[in-house]
Amino acid sequence: MEKPIVVANWKMNPQKEEEAIRIAKFSDREGVVICPPFVFLSAVKKEVKKADLGAQNCFFEKQGAFTGETSPVMLKNYSCKYVIIGHSERRELLYEKEDDIKKKIKILLDEKITPIFCVGEDEKSEESLRNQLKVLEDTSLKKIIIAYEPQFAIGTGKSCDIEEAEKKKVFIKSILAKSHEGGEKTIVLYGGSVDSKNALSYIEEAGFDGLLVGGASLKEKEFGRLLKNISL
Ligand code: PGA
Repeated sequence: MEKPIVVANWKMNPQKEEEAIRIAKFSDREGVVICPPFVFLSAVKKEVKKADLGAQNCFFEKQGAFTGETSPVMLKNYSCKYVIIGHSERRELLYEKEDDIKKKIKILLDEKITPIFCVGEDEKSEESLRNQLKVLEDTSLKKIIIAYEPQFAIGTGKSCDIEEAEKKKVFIKSILAKSHEGGEKTIVLYGGSVDSKNALSYIEEAGFDGLLVGGASLKEKEFGRLLKNISL
């Protein structure tokens, strides 16, 4: 099996650049994708040698009169190779819709940036997962990473049962295999209350290709243990 990939989603943390630099230093390993807030991209870029850089969102146009937005071209110029798209916090709190998500994925692929496309149901409904995956129907999956994040598990400390997560991974891959030739080979990550204790099970037992880590990626000892436990 390929080495797992770990996406460190800092969300709206930390508050100061010195702290961002400290976190970047202990996260700087091959296989880690550090996704800081936009304002810290420049400082983090200078600090990291082994990890890749990503962003937590972008706009669906390249440039122009879009107050407050950040374009994929800007992110590319800051060496971002990945952008998280459709995170459930954005869907819920910022009313991000499938149409926006679709446009963002398209522009990222045009700019040769890998979208990390988040999907996850609010209850155990497979139907909502199926609907979320519809945005990929006319898109090549070669350069897309999926992050499966059940909503109840995000930031709650209640991680998803390993068997349940594996079932959802199989379900996602089966949908992708139906819509795209070779779709079952798409990289699928697990996210939602990942910590140093459960990380390995999602990879070894449930067969995910990696992890999307929020809270635990900000804590030096905990993140260090997590990476060690999955041999990164
Ligand atoms: P969490 O966040 O690890 O704090 O649950 C995961 C995420 O980024 O959604």
